[in-house]
Amino acid sequence: MHKKIAVLPGDGIGPEVVDQGLKVLKAVEETFGHSFTYEEALIGAAAIDKTGAALPEETLKCCMDADAVLFGAIGHPKYDNDPKAKVRPEQGLLALRKGLGLYANIRPVATFDKLLDRSPLKNDRIQGADFVVVRELTGGIYFGEPRGRRDNGTVAFDTCVYSKEEVTRIGRLAFEMARSRKGRLCSVDKANVLETSRLWRETMQELGQEYPDVELSHQFVDSAAMDLIVNPKRFDVIVTENMFGDILTDEASVITGSLGLLPSASIGEKTSVFEPIHGSFPQAAGKNIANPVATILSVAKLLEEAFQMTNEAQAVRLAVERALGEGKMTPDLNEKDPLTTSALGDYISSIVPSVSVSTAK
Ligand code: IPM
Ligand code: MN
Repeated sequence: MHKKIAVLPGDGIGPEVVDQGLKVLKAVEETFGHSFTYEEALIGAAAIDKTGAALPEETLKCCMDADAVLFGAIGHPKYDNDPKAKVRPEQGLLALRKGLGLYANIRPVATFDKLLDRSPLKNDRIQGADFVVVRELTGGIYFGEPRGRRDNGTVAFDTCVYSKEEVTRIGRLAFEMARSRKGRLCSVDKANVLETSRLWRETMQELGQEYPDVELSHQFVDSAAMDLIVNPKRFDVIVTENMFGDILTDEASVITGSLGLLPSASIGEKTSVFEPIHGSFPQAAGKNIANPVATILSVAKLLEEAFQMTNEAQAVRLAVERALGEGKMTPDLNEKDPLTTSALGDYISSIVPSVSVSTAK
């Protein structure tokens, strides 16, 4: 099959981890007889430096024209320490999400048996944890208007807005996902305080009537944040608004042992974007120490969801599992005898053909 992939390495460790994802894609092409073309485009601080814009028009066009987008990371300390900067790298990612209508961000969290000891949490709490967070991605306080400053810049405000339509759209996706899994959906909100959350809850309750086979529960975000750590096995599918989902998924990464392991898929109206959930990790940039697994698992999601290549995706996952099982890990997970980012990418892509023997058609 021929497919076109837009590649957006972005900032910090983004280019290094994306390179490993590309190696794996090439191994998949060779093993399964596909041909992918790759078009690289600028986003984030890298784009601001070269063009002045965080999301140049050509980049959005390149993504629109592609069958899928592989994204690295965004953010640079020079902007983090300069709250007055007019153009910020993160605006590039937000504009991309808006521009492609990516209203749903799907973040699966599952433990790897071999890595249970790497999590700071107790084994018996996390073993077998396997859930998906469905994060609304184009609404809420990230995008609400008005936002800004008043009183000579001494007072700042953001607006959290949700329409019933937006909640229904993400809600349906989450109910369908729960239906295809264990049939449990937990909607996370702050309905005891926020009006947007009351609309959210009301809408989820209404939708629930259409999905009598799905067991719907509601939980306040503060309590869900605690339960995620104390009792993560309780969850199957979690659906929540943009900012709660951002925070809860970083927290959830602690269950797997490293933020460097979690992939994500952002889907919506146009081309889907596949990206690790971690950020640009500037302290590690250029050092060849970043964990490429989240990006490689995002490649698996890309193959599966954008190209319907289930066997190919499975081969990538098996290759990752095999490597981790053999102790082949970057320093975040293996301090004593670590592999570099590129060595782990080489290793995982080199075993794709052999694990594929049993998965290939
Ligand atoms: C994420 C990131 C982004 C977000 C930033 C970089 C804008 O943290 O994808 O989780 O907050 O959504
Ligand atoms: Mn985040």
